[in-house]
Formats: sequence, structure tokens, C-alpha cells
Amino acid sequence: MFDNLLGKQPLIGLDIGQSAIKLATLGQGKKGTYTLKSFSFAPLSESAILEEEINDRTQIIEQIRSAFKEGGFKNKNICFGLAGSGSIVKSMKSPEGSRDDIEDHIHWEAEQFIPFGMENAEVSLHIMPKENEMSRDVVMAAAKIQDIARYQEIIFASGLKMKTVDLQVLSLINIFEHNYSDYLHEYKDGTLIIDFGAQSTKIIVYRNGLPLLVKTIIMGGVNTTEEIQKEVGIDFNQAEDLKKMNQTDTKYPDEVLAAIKKISKSIVSKVVDAVAFYTSSNSEDRIKHCFITGGCSRQPGIIEDLIEGLDISVETLDPLRKISISTKGNISDGIVEYLTYSGAVCLGLGLRAYD
Ligand SMILES: Nc1ncnc2c1ncn2[C@@H]1O[C@H](COP(=O)(O)OP(=O)(O)OP(=O)(O)O)[C@@H](O)[C@H]1O
Ligand SMILES: [Mg+2]
Repeated sequence: MFDNLLGKQPLIGLDIGQSAIKLATLGQGKKGTYTLKSFSFAPLSESAILEEEINDRTQIIEQIRSAFKEGGFKNKNICFGLAGSGSIVKSMKSPEGSRDDIEDHIHWEAEQFIPFGMENAEVSLHIMPKENEMSRDVVMAAAKIQDIARYQEIIFASGLKMKTVDLQVLSLINIFEHNYSDYLHEYKDGTLIIDFGAQSTKIIVYRNGLPLLVKTIIMGGVNTTEEIQKEVGIDFNQAEDLKKMNQTDTKYPDEVLAAIKKISKSIVSKVVDAVAFYTSSNSEDRIKHCFITGGCSRQPGIIEDLIEGLDISVETLDPLRKISISTKGNISDGIVEYLTYSGAVCLGLGLRAYD
């Protein structure tokens, strides 16, 4: 969206997540193949972003600078991924017509779907290929101008240039479609993609190449860490370390596991409700597959509760399934593991350079 791309220069995908800054560049090979050239991330403290708001601008700028330096990136052009309540994605239908007619129709209808007001929004339309004589599918993406400007300023202050803005949920679809292109005929039937992040959980119902439902639940890994903090009486960072003990196969103390599972249940029940609401109003649209991503998807209870609540199998989205890794870069096995869970958005943003 918001294309002001200047040719096909590689862009650095930038994801400012609640838990970390993530940067990635991809190179394009023959026949639509891609290589991950550089990736780096820099953690943010729990108070850098609070309830979707930038709370510590200086820390964010410092960490973008540090990740940029560490990654050894060759240019400064950024594709930034926006998320949260200042953005919206809606699949719409327009009567078939010329491009201008379709755009006019959608702009006129879009107003009712933009909670922050059309006058405050940057709107981008993706008109899908023609399927019949009567109507055309269009994906409308909108973002609050004020939010874009805020991040543009931060990126500029970090010494980089924001060349384009995408929405995180669209970059997730982008990375999903690329990596599972050989199975898309199957997944087009109705697939759920869920990003379990630190501050929020993003849900997408993907069907016939369209995001038919996009919903963000303001709950994630941070809530789990806070629950452990409260139960055990320790500080945030200690609780965060305890929570991630599963990375080293250490057994959780009982009260920690109970705190984790309590939040997993709560997050998953909100996801299941959102999906049930969608399927009850679109009864012919069965959801048959589920892909999960995001660091919080590793939290005990999430997968089990999802399988039980949705009654379908659940698979971790592999964002590197069809992306090779440059041997010249800085990408260690540890980084690959991090990318597997926390890198999908950033890699999807890096792919945008080649749309
Ligand atoms: N092994 C693990 N077990 C449990 N939770 C984990 C594990 N590894 C990471 N997490 C949690 O995942 C979250 C980070 O995931 P991710 O990188 O996807 O979030 P983010 O992109 O920074 O957040 P958001 O998308 O909400 O802005 C943190 O809450 C972190 O504690
Ligand atoms: Mg995220």
C-alpha cells in the first residue's frame, strides 16, 4: 500500500514490535526465488511501547540504529509495517467497471469502515483480478495519517528513510502466500493465520486470496509475563526469562506453568470467539486450516487450546520455507530459530520490494 517505491531497489523491512525492533533485507533470484541477505533485531524494554503508544521514543530510535548497524545493511530505504487500531483492512466488492469506476465506488463505501475518519486516513486499494462480469473484489487498506507521520519521524530520526508503508497483517499474508504458493489452491478454501505477538494477537481469515476477516486482540505475551510477575513476585525481566525456560527444555515450576496456561486460555478463547462470530455470519465459509506465528505462539497451552477450541489442526507458519539464507550474511542458527517464530512480519515487509 501507499506505493511510492522507486523501482525495484531492495527495501529493508522494519517491524517495530512491542518486544523488539526487527530489520530484514531479501535479494531476488531467478524464477521468483528469494534469499534472506541480512536480518537483525534489537530488544525493546517493556515500557518502550505501552498499549500501542510510543512511550520511549529515544529508546526506539537507539535500537533501530543499533539493529541497522549490526545488520550491515547496504541501503537506508525502509518498508515499515504498521499495526494496531490506527489501521484497518477490509475486503469489499464493487460492481465491475473501469479502474476509475471501481475506485470511486470503493472510496464512497469505504467511509463507513474507517473508524478514525476518511479525512484522517491514507487509503490504498488493491483491485483483484477479474473473476466475473458482475463484480470485483477489492482489498481496502487504510492507516491513520497521524500514525504514519509519527513512525516516519522516528525512522527519519534513526537516519533511515521510510519509502513505503504496509500493514503488518498484509505482510503476513504476503509471506504466507510466498512460502505456501504450492498449496494455495488448498488453503484458499479457508485458512486462519494468527500472529501471537507480545502486545497483541492478530487474526486473519484468508479465503480465495482475500483477507475476509482481520481482527486484532489487545492481549499477548506481555500479559503472560505480567501474570508470572504477579504470581511469583519478581520483576518483568525475571518473569520473561522464566516464561522462556521452554527454550532450554527446563521444567517450569508449577505456579509459573499455571500462570502461563491461564493467559493462554484467555487469549485463545478470544480468538475462538472472533472466529465463531465470523463463521456464524458467513456460515458457508468453513475454516479448514490454521497457521500460527509470533513469539507468544510458543507459550505452553496456546496450540493445545487452539486445537481444542477450533477443532482443526494447527501448524506453525514457516516464514523461511521458500526463502534461502545467504551464506555471506550474519544469520546464525539462533537467528533462524528467532525468525521462525518472530520474523514473519519483517520478512513479509522485506518481500514487498519485489511486488
Ligand atoms: N519460548 C517462548 N515461550 C513463551 N513466550 C515466548 C517465547 N519466546 C518468545 N516469547 C514471547 O513472544 C513475544 C514476542 O513475540 P514477537 O516477537 O512475535 O512479538 P512482537 O512482534 O514484538 O509483538 P507485537 O506483534 O505484539 O508488537 C514476547 O512476549 C515473548 O515473551
Ligand atoms: Mg509482531
